[in-house]
Amino acid sequence: MGAIAWPLIDSMNPSKDVLALSSVETDLTPIELGSGITVVWRGKPIFVRHRTEKEIKEAEDVQMSQLIEPQPDSERVKAGHAQWIVLIGICTHLGCVPLGNKPTDPRGEWGGWFCPCHGSQYDTSGRVRHGPAPLNLYIPPYAFESNTKIKIG
Ligand code: FES
Repeated sequence: MGAIAWPLIDSMNPSKDVLALSSVETDLTPIELGSGITVVWRGKPIFVRHRTEKEIKEAEDVQMSQLIEPQPDSERVKAGHAQWIVLIGICTHLGCVPLGNKPTDPRGEWGGWFCPCHGSQYDTSGRVRHGPAPLNLYIPPYAFESNTKIKIG
C-alpha cells in the first residue's frame, strides 16, 4: 500500500508549505519502556515504540537468513536511537492495522506486532516473520529534533 502511495505523492510535487503542514511532531517522553503509541500522519497510523534492551537485542541478533525480507535492525532505526522504532502501522498484506503497541496486546511469537486479519506477525524491528504479509512494515520519513522529540514527515 505504502509503496503505491509514495510515487503518487512525489509526482504531485507538493509545495514546501504543504509539506510542512503534513509533518507531525511527537514528544517521546510519555511513551513508557516496552510500550508504543499510534500517531496519525497523512491519514496513516504511525507506530512509535520504546523498545526494551531485550527487544533491541532480539532485533539485532536475528540472522538475515531467517527473515522473509532481510534487513538489519540497524537500517531500520536511527543511529544512537535504537530504543525507538518508528513504523507505518499498516500490514503489508491487505492493509489492516496490527496489534502490539500496548504490552497487553497480542504481539505474536516474535514480540513485535500481530495482525489479527490473517495472522501475520512482525518482530521488534517491524520485520515480517510470519506471513501472509510479504514485506516488513514500512518506515516513514522522520528525524530526531532532540533526544525526546521526533518530527515525522
Ligand atoms: S492484512 Fe494483515 S495479515 Fe492480512
